Parts: sequence; structure tokens; C-alpha cells
Amino acid sequence: MDILKQRILEQASVLSTDVLRLDSIINHQVDPALTMEMGHEFANRFAGEQITKVVTIESSGIPSAFAAAYVLGVPLVFARRKKTLIADNDAYCERVPSFTKGMVTDIMVSKQYLTSEDRVLFIDDIIANGDAARGLLKIIERSGAKLVGMGVVVEKSFQAGSRTLREQGVRVESLVSISSLEGGQITFE
Ligand code: G4P
Ligand code: NA
Ligand code: NA
Repeated sequence: MDILKQRILEQASVLSTDVLRLDSIINHQVDPALTMEMGHEFANRFAGEQITKVVTIESSGIPSAFAAAYVLGVPLVFARRKKTLIADNDAYCERVPSFTKGMVTDIMVSKQYLTSEDRVLFIDDIIANGDAARGLLKIIERSGAKLVGMGVVVEKSFQAGSRTLREQGVRVESLVSISSLEGGQITFE
């Protein structure tokens, strides 16, 4: 997605060799028009998949996932993060480490909103190591829903997440793929 590449070059900053600051586009401020274009792009790439639900994790995945769900005309379900994991028979819960925050969090989805009837598109803002993604994929699997694929806004292909998921047979579609942040330079795939 060229306009997204453009915006990243103009507005993102390289924080370290593996972290890109995307606050002005994704993680703090959101451009609704650009985000709707992301939604159209995801919907096009997964056209014909008979998706019944878009799933993401709060919070930064929500805008692009909402846009995709809107274009596809299906509900969006966002996994919620919990500070304390209270045993809940009515929800699927998974513990995931967080790359940027350096701690573990628990994510949960109510059993009501994900069932074996669903064909699910998982959307997320950034894929790094893929820990959060793996947590959500486990939840999708436990629900019996069919995972159609994963759409990510920014793939950092020099980290293991996207590669590992593809090796497991998950269709991963990214809008932009970054192969390196070495030397403070953003290099696209
Ligand atoms: P993943 O499983 O989705 O690949 O994420 P991973 O555990 O590797 O990273 C966890 C968190 O770190 C995610 O946010 C992810 O978006 C964020 N992250 C990873 N790399 C970068 C980066 O280069 N830049 C920025 N800005 N964020 C990065 P989160 O903990 O889910 O938080 P939230 O943003 O949804 O609140
Ligand atoms: Na994030
Ligand atoms: Na995220």
C-alpha cells in the first residue's frame, strides 16, 4: 500500500533497531480516511472467503479491524486485556507476553462472540514476534471457528512472528512489510 509507505516515511520514527514509533498513524492518533483505505485493502485481499467476523486485540488493532469489518459488513470482536485473570467458564483466555511493554497480559474473548460457525479474519496493527497473535489464534482455535487468515498493517519481517505463522500455514497479508530498521533507516521489503 503505497500511501501507507509514504506516510510511514514522512511520520514514523525509528526508536531502535527493532522498534518503530507509529504514534501519529496507528498507536495514538488515527487518520480515519487512511484507516478506511486499509479496511478496503484487507477486504479486497480476502474477498470470496465468506468471512463472518473480524477479530483483533485491543487497543491499537481496533481502528484497522473496524475498517475491515465495516467494508466486509460483518461484526468486529476485539479481545479484551485483563489485569487479573479471573477464571471464567464463559470466556476463552490466553496469557501473552508483550514485546513493547515487557510484561505478560491476559486476553479474553467471550464464548458468545466466537463460535464454530464463524469464519474469522484476524486483523492487527503490527506484527513483531507474534506472541499476541499466537494467543489470539489459540483462542480462535479453541472456539472451533475457522481462521481465514491474518491481515496486518505493518509487518516487521526481520522479526520472527510473520514467518512463524506462515510456516504454520496461516495466510498472512501485510499492507507494508519492513525488512530492516538498521542505522535508523526504514527499509521496505
Ligand atoms: P504481536 O504478537 O502482535 O507480533 O506483537 P508482539 O507480542 O510481538 O508485540 C506486542 C505489542 O508490541 C503489540 O502491541 C505490538 O503492536 C507492539 N509492537 C511490536 N513492535 C512494535 C513496533 O515496532 N512499534 C510499535 N509502535 N509497536 C510495536 P500491544 O501490546 O498489543 O499494545 P496496543 O498497542 O494494542 O495497546
Ligand atoms: Na501495538
Ligand atoms: Na496490537
